[in-house]
Amino acid sequence: MSTPTAAPPAVVADTVSKVFFSGSTPVWALEDFSLQLEDGSFTCIVGPSGCGKSTFLRILGGLEERTDGAVTISAVDHPIPAAYVFQEHGLFPWMSVEDNVAFGLRMTGVGAAERRSTARAWLSRVRLDEFARAYPHQLSGGMRQRVAIARAFATGSPVLLMDEPLGALDAQTRMLMQEELTSLWEAERKTVLMVTHDIDEAIVLGDRVLVMSGRPGTLRDDITVPFERPRRLTEIERDPAFTALRSRIWDLLREDAQHAEEEA
Ligand SMILES: Nc1ncnc2c1ncn2[C@@H]1O[C@H](COP(=O)(O)OP(=O)(O)OP(=O)(O)O)[C@@H](O)[C@H]1O
Ligand SMILES: [Mg+2]
Repeated sequence: MSTPTAAPPAVVADTVSKVFFSGSTPVWALEDFSLQLEDGSFTCIVGPSGCGKSTFLRILGGLEERTDGAVTISAVDHPIPAAYVFQEHGLFPWMSVEDNVAFGLRMTGVGAAERRSTARAWLSRVRLDEFARAYPHQLSGGMRQRVAIARAFATGSPVLLMDEPLGALDAQTRMLMQEELTSLWEAERKTVLMVTHDIDEAIVLGDRVLVMSGRPGTLRDDITVPFERPRRLTEIERDPAFTALRSRIWDLLREDAQHAEEEA
């Protein structure tokens, strides 16, 4: 009798290192950073500023070369193996909202009519149908991030890399967007890797929270979030398990922040 084999991880990073050069001085941004992301999982990364989070996402997304180590994205035959959502949306200001969303599909070889209808469908899912012909500057910050998120989902890419996608939003908009992002993810079950500076957000959104050390970034802790889904911050924040988890993450981050200050 054969045992069922588990699906291969959607993303594997094996001892990834990255050195930048500032003149002739090497700056180690990442050192032996490894992780595996289960297909369809939602993973959050937290870590001190400058520890290499964006660098790591950029390496996974093929936007940056690594110095050492290996990266495997299982869906290599997809035209966009991993789609990217930037902090500050990264929309093209000269393109309409609809064209921004459709743009992500160009590389997939889909024809113009289908690009347009897919873009429309995704704008509808993020409740922005009426703004299809508007330009990014005519939207609020939250609306722009919804466009950026719709653009990433619309590519059909199985892996979404999100670098502080909600970082620039006010607290209320941010909470609403967390709920919207969760619903989209629950419906689509993409593999999401999201960087955030907000510990509560990491716990509310993630199946796992990865805590990185200060530069050079390495993995300090890999925490499985124990709360059932669907979950909301307002429902879990008074749970002692939530406060314990928040303290555990905060203690790890504080040690590194203090260390960085002593070195400065
Ligand atoms: N293109 C580059 N050239 C030189 N150094 C770089 C470059 N990009 C990043 N670095 C350096 O690599 C380190 C990690 O940067 P990175 O942007 O990945 O950090 P981060 O964890 O995303 O920080 P933050 O939380 O502030 O966004 C930093 O010291 C940064 O100065
Ligand atoms: Mg960053």
